[in-house]
Amino acid sequence: MSSNKVSKSTITDELTQKVISLCQRRAILFANSDIYGSAAGFFDYGPYGCELKKRIENSWWKTFVQSREDIVGIDGAIITSPRVWVASGHVAAFNDPLVDCLKCKSRHRADTLVEDELKISVDGFSLDKLGALIKEHKIVCQKCGGELSVARKFNLMFNTHIGAVQDESSIAYLRPETAQLMFADFKIVQQAMRKKLPFGIAQIGKAFRNEIAPRNFVFRCREFSQMEIEFFIHPKLVNSCPILTDEVKAKKVQMITAAEQEKGKDGVMETMTIGDALSKHVIKTQWHGYWLATCLDWLYSLGITPANLRLREHVKTELSHYSVETWDIEYRYPWGWKELQGIANRTDFDLTQHQKESGKDLSYFDEESHERVIPHVIEPSIGVDRVFFTVLIDAYRENASDKGSTSTLALHPELSPVQVAIFPLMKKDGLAEKGRAVFNMLRSEFVCEYDESGSIGKRYARQDEVGTPFCITVDYDSLEKDDVTIRERDSGNQKRVPISKLKEVIECSFGEYCALHGGKN
Ligand code: GAP
Repeated sequence: MSSNKVSKSTITDELTQKVISLCQRRAILFANSDIYGSAAGFFDYGPYGCELKKRIENSWWKTFVQSREDIVGIDGAIITSPRVWVASGHVAAFNDPLVDCLKCKSRHRADTLVEDELKISVDGFSLDKLGALIKEHKIVCQKCGGELSVARKFNLMFNTHIGAVQDESSIAYLRPETAQLMFADFKIVQQAMRKKLPFGIAQIGKAFRNEIAPRNFVFRCREFSQMEIEFFIHPKLVNSCPILTDEVKAKKVQMITAAEQEKGKDGVMETMTIGDALSKHVIKTQWHGYWLATCLDWLYSLGITPANLRLREHVKTELSHYSVETWDIEYRYPWGWKELQGIANRTDFDLTQHQKESGKDLSYFDEESHERVIPHVIEPSIGVDRVFFTVLIDAYRENASDKGSTSTLALHPELSPVQVAIFPLMKKDGLAEKGRAVFNMLRSEFVCEYDESGSIGKRYARQDEVGTPFCITVDYDSLEKDDVTIRERDSGNQKRVPISKLKEVIECSFGEYCALHGGKN
């Protein structure tokens, strides 16, 4: 069994190493069932981690489902009819390029191996091209230096069997994306919810991929969660988006087009408004432009630094079998710009495929034109774990002082696993009781933690590490004046606040943060 520790050793940059060791030290996110030596690519979220993960999911659900009339949610099964994956093309085409070591028999993902060794981007390179590069540059096994086989395709789906008989007829797959159920369930959801085009179906849930080279912690793992929307549009109206307002069109984004990348090297990044990109036909359809801007906005609302995000168009050879145009939202990771989210134009590919495979009519009756159509789809798809890791990398700060260095997660207060920490200066003289009273008062409004052990400095440091935005200290003056000191994480500023005003002051500080960084509340 390959170990998670091996995949960690592939991480060479210091920042990522520090974020990973913070995650492990504070049990935020760590290798799955580590006491047994876990398999690479599986992780467990600890108490702070699962709180932060839930907050990311809740923010997404609130933004894209609960706050909109044109998107409804579902929660489908992980194991579905295997015919779903025949129809979607995953059985035939969900492959990554694989090379075997002829000496030690270890397996490598050919594209990441070439990227690692030659320090170039190989997005969209064919099997032959990767094989040729391996041969030309005499790339060998990273583990033992042995010669490598020719590159071949490896299907990423995990399979299992349904029922007691384990043969070809009982084979089933753990879903490699949540997307397909939104297509398979399109008709029942559309009819039951009386939805008219354009509308979307959204889902948050687990997906599984037998990645050849899980790496960079949870950036690429084998079990992960996705947040996906399939947004269905009348096929003649994909370039006519009534909610593409002037405000959306005016949004400036960094982008790198397929044409630029095809010129060679990695291409030049430009800054353009969504409106200009649409009028220059850089982004081909209005609905695609709308979804790119809207997804970027949600990432900004999590507090992710806008300059670290860009749009990158897939080059032709890189497009998935279902897509005619895909843009990734990439983040500038310490190991380079990489995909955080994919937003694809899947046309009518999936509904048409499921209609063929199932023999069921999946068309939509358009009351205005009195015609039956197969809707086209724009699909914003993003991994929860990848957002989680990105948020941590983006928020990680180091504070050097003469006592050594400590770290802070400058998380958006709406994401912080603990929002308010309460410390009595001492356990004695009634301070602990007063501290607990403040804790009990605030915990109905905010996620709070009570901590009475260690020096106040150590307690601040513990909370900074997990991104707690506000710490409250109850001291001797508090007993007399019924007030406390509140300390703000990022500025370190401290002020005295009457206990009766605490909720208001904290809410107001949340509001100020949102106004400054783009907020969700
Ligand atoms: N339904 C389309 C789809 O699944 P994808 O680009 O393969 O497209 C979408 O995946 C998103 O899911 C990615 O942008 C990424 O955020 C996340 N993702 C994909 N594979 C992942 C993996 N092995 N580990 C963690 N996240 C992953």
